[in-house]
Amino acid sequence: MTELRAVQQRQEELEGQLLHSQKLEALGTLAGGVAHELNNTLVPILALSKLASDDLPQDSPVRGDMITIIQASERARDLVKQILAFARKQDLVKQPVDLAMVAREALRMLRSRLPATVQIVEHISDIPPVFGDPVGLHQVVVNLITNAAQAIGAVIGRITVSIWAVGESQASPQQGAIQPIIYLSVADTGNGIPAATLDRIFEPFFTTKDVGEGTGLGLSVVHGIITSHGGKIAVHSEPGEGAEFTISLPAHGKQQAVSRIDPMAA
Ligand SMILES: Nc1ncnc2c1ncn2[C@@H]1O[C@H](COP(=O)(O)OP(=O)(O)OP(=O)(O)O)[C@@H](O)[C@H]1O
Ligand SMILES: [Mg+2]
Repeated sequence: MTELRAVQQRQEELEGQLLHSQKLEALGTLAGGVAHELNNTLVPILALSKLASDDLPQDSPVRGDMITIIQASERARDLVKQILAFARKQDLVKQPVDLAMVAREALRMLRSRLPATVQIVEHISDIPPVFGDPVGLHQVVVNLITNAAQAIGAVIGRITVSIWAVGESQASPQQGAIQPIIYLSVADTGNGIPAATLDRIFEPFFTTKDVGEGTGLGLSVVHGIITSHGGKIAVHSEPGEGAEFTISLPAHGKQQAVSRIDPMAA
């Protein structure tokens, strides 16, 4: 009986996961289509308003208006880019990437932006490369850490970033060898995520933050990027005890094949 119940429970879980991913897929298709059209509309607005403002005399009274138009269309273009990223309509440039290096660089960049009350602990070991897009993976780390810092808020807290590999020793060039899995976990001591919210956090535009503070795109972008890398995301949270996001990605090839590419330079 217990075995049967376990099988039924597993089946319900899988059905739930399938429904959830179909919903995300449908939302992604819709948003991706809109973003694509919007992008085509934005290109001439941005290009022509820049040209027009260059032609204006320095003391022109409409100069301020033109700058506002340019800034607003730049903001719209950035949003569209993010939507295209989670809708997977953007071409990822895949190559062997050292996720540990990408994460260290993202942390170095973020450290100066985060309040001093947020302590960052790194448990980053040397890992085999993943086959992926360094810019996308950098974005994943930044989005997760930004969320963690926002969940902590203005109080004292800690973000623990861990990277490790499993199955490394079994890996061999022979066929049928177990491919190592690379794990990245970002855990925080913030507010945590209530069970009712947990189901929706990967939906595009789902946010619990105030207008202007969050667009609800961060985790949809993370989901889109990780899925297109053949990876998975798991979330664990006890409300009031913080949250932990764990990403798993298949490793690629041998250790020495890593290219030293600066994700910020791309
Ligand atoms: N580490 C975390 N702790 C608590 N809640 C979280 C955490 N990460 C995400 N969430 C919840 O998931 C929601 C969606 O996150 P997501 O990153 O997609 O959007 P956002 O952070 O609200 O806005 P954006 O990332 O676009 O600025 C958040 O509004 C928040 O409620
Ligand atoms: Mg976010």
